[in-house]
Amino acid sequence: MPIHFQRKNNRFLLTTKNTAYAFDIGAGRYLVHTYYGKKGKEITPFSGAPLSYAAYPESLGANWNPDEIPQECPFFDSGDYRISALRIEGKDGTGVTDFVYRSYRILQGRRDIDGIPAARVDEDTKTLEIKMVDRVTGCELYLYYTVFYEDDVISRSMAIKNKGKVPVTVARCMPLSLDLKGCDYHMISLWGTHNDECNIQRFPLHHGTQSIFSRRGASSPQHNPFLALCAPKTTETKGDVYAFNLVYSGSFLDEVEVDQQCNTRVQLGLGSDTFAYTLAPGEEFTSPEALMLYTKDGLGEMSRLMHRFVRRRIMPAHALQPHPVVLNTWEACYFDIDEATLFAFAEESAKLGIDMLVMDDGWFGARNYDDAGLGDWYPNPQKFKNGLKSFVEGIHERGVKFGIWIEPEMVNPDSDLYRAHPDWCLRIEGRELLLSRNQLVLDMANPAVIEYLKASYDKTFGDVGIDYFKWDMNRHLAAVGSPLLPPERQKEVTFRYMKGVYELLDYMTTRFPNAIIESCSGGGGRYDLGMMRYGFQIWTSDNTEPYARIDIQRGALLAYPAATMSCHVSDPHEDMKSLDFRYKVAVGGMLGYELNILKMSDAVKQEMARQIAEYKSFAHVIRLGDYYNLACPYEKKYDAHYYATENGKELLFSLAECEGCKAGETALLRFRAALPGVTYTDALSGKAFSGDELRRGIRLPLTGEKHHATLYYLVAKD
Ligand code: GLA
Repeated sequence: MPIHFQRKNNRFLLTTKNTAYAFDIGAGRYLVHTYYGKKGKEITPFSGAPLSYAAYPESLGANWNPDEIPQECPFFDSGDYRISALRIEGKDGTGVTDFVYRSYRILQGRRDIDGIPAARVDEDTKTLEIKMVDRVTGCELYLYYTVFYEDDVISRSMAIKNKGKVPVTVARCMPLSLDLKGCDYHMISLWGTHNDECNIQRFPLHHGTQSIFSRRGASSPQHNPFLALCAPKTTETKGDVYAFNLVYSGSFLDEVEVDQQCNTRVQLGLGSDTFAYTLAPGEEFTSPEALMLYTKDGLGEMSRLMHRFVRRRIMPAHALQPHPVVLNTWEACYFDIDEATLFAFAEESAKLGIDMLVMDDGWFGARNYDDAGLGDWYPNPQKFKNGLKSFVEGIHERGVKFGIWIEPEMVNPDSDLYRAHPDWCLRIEGRELLLSRNQLVLDMANPAVIEYLKASYDKTFGDVGIDYFKWDMNRHLAAVGSPLLPPERQKEVTFRYMKGVYELLDYMTTRFPNAIIESCSGGGGRYDLGMMRYGFQIWTSDNTEPYARIDIQRGALLAYPAATMSCHVSDPHEDMKSLDFRYKVAVGGMLGYELNILKMSDAVKQEMARQIAEYKSFAHVIRLGDYYNLACPYEKKYDAHYYATENGKELLFSLAECEGCKAGETALLRFRAALPGVTYTDALSGKAFSGDELRRGIRLPLTGEKHHATLYYLVAKD
């Protein structure tokens, strides 16, 4: 039983394949966290010496100290002075609540989260529901723990029902709150910016709070919602790690506090200062889902557990099928879209084995540059004389599939849409508009906007065989206000905005079931589990320079599987060594090309055709395999990693030399996933290695040359 209530000690015990999570009902009222970690360890109830000057409930006495008790859901200003998981402002205006335990249920599967994506469950998934009640506001609080037994993952979400007689405002809602013993942890997260996403940072916790967040309305490249805490000595292969993530794409807060007792509290959820949500009597609010996992086997195992979970529970099922190798027009054409060129691209693409042509920005409305046309989702009549349908038929006839770029959430002031509906963008009455890339953000919290977009896409793409949408979002929300909502509901806008985006994504995946979605936000600005629930893969970065890409991809792989990572080879400028290097870097994920294929020499094209055929021979190992990092993520000398199929019989290895590598040096590479007692042959060079030798470690000489990378596709002989 993955969920068990032990009556004798009032304990809820949740178990996954390798981990256990426990909490007790303390004083008959509150949920006291007792354990999270390796399964099978003895769990003892919390006991602590009362703190001096602590606040305690009159009825429980001084031995009950909210400020030192590890809590499942700590409430604001409840005598627990640490960060709180929930702040609800009722009619007394204080934000104080006192939710007490009422009952529990075990649900088959899970409770749906209204309008927000969540991890997929199956017949083995169970959810623990805890009901708590606050007497003064009359609110009911439901805490959900969904146990993904085989995945070693537990998720948490919460729902608040206003059963009282007056409105209340949820001002902070952190569905995941975990109190860990001690504070000797390193915090690991991904930070970045446009063109430089997914930098790994790792630092020791300090007393006080440390946080990563977005108040941009998108999960953002600045801070990814993924967070891990590990023991200081944790390496790729050894050491305790707790990892967390949110299934959500909007503004968020991940916060970690080290308290006066040297214990650690970690929280994830809607804690951004741009968030609040008012519930009228009878209304209900459901939080996004947050995930957690624990492993004792280091960061590599953490990544692999996360990756498997994302592939099984987050990405749409068809994402496990072969991904098309695409040619994207952006770096070749920018806004200069014309039919004849694209037909020629399609013809050349088909010859090289490219599966799909993706027409990027510049095809619709008056979109000749980034200052006009967004919002007008009809093909530009000058660019498509016979309409989009006939054009797409022409592309298909030339032997490739067809993908198209859209940026649904945005509008240029110079557009028919804005001229007709200036009140459809986010704006605050009497305040100046804030532009970015010449565009405004549509009010996705307004149902009329969603209906307009659905109708536009229906009309434009309804009878056109679109195989792929690249869904972009090129600016963040700022000066957020919805003309539709009353002042007391304005802080709901960013959350309602996300729900609007998810509704449209839902519509598009249902209306165009055969089309796949690539999510993009100026590159990897929405590299999150919410988008991945619909999206096929993520455009990792606008930066396709291979050395920069190595770091970006390695960062993304810490938390997300290679199947989500869109990697394009851009123009090598006729330098064959550079082409080879760009390809070997792009092989880290889902391969594509972003260059003017018509300007490439025959030599480049021949090499591209070879690369594509080669890639297709081992793409399944990258897409479905386990990731093993062989290089220190903080040292940029070389990048080395491999993917291994579940049965260990196929290994796809690559090493890319970076600045600082010197001829005469070697890289020691240990392939822990190799099988002992078998012989592997590199299908690319014919070289043979024994599994034992690979496990012990092989030494690869480094060259110190620019653009030097090595690729092995090691296949075990039966
Ligand atoms: C963003 C994307 C690019 C491209 C342009 C089009 O910058 O990241 O790949 O689609 O928008 O305007």
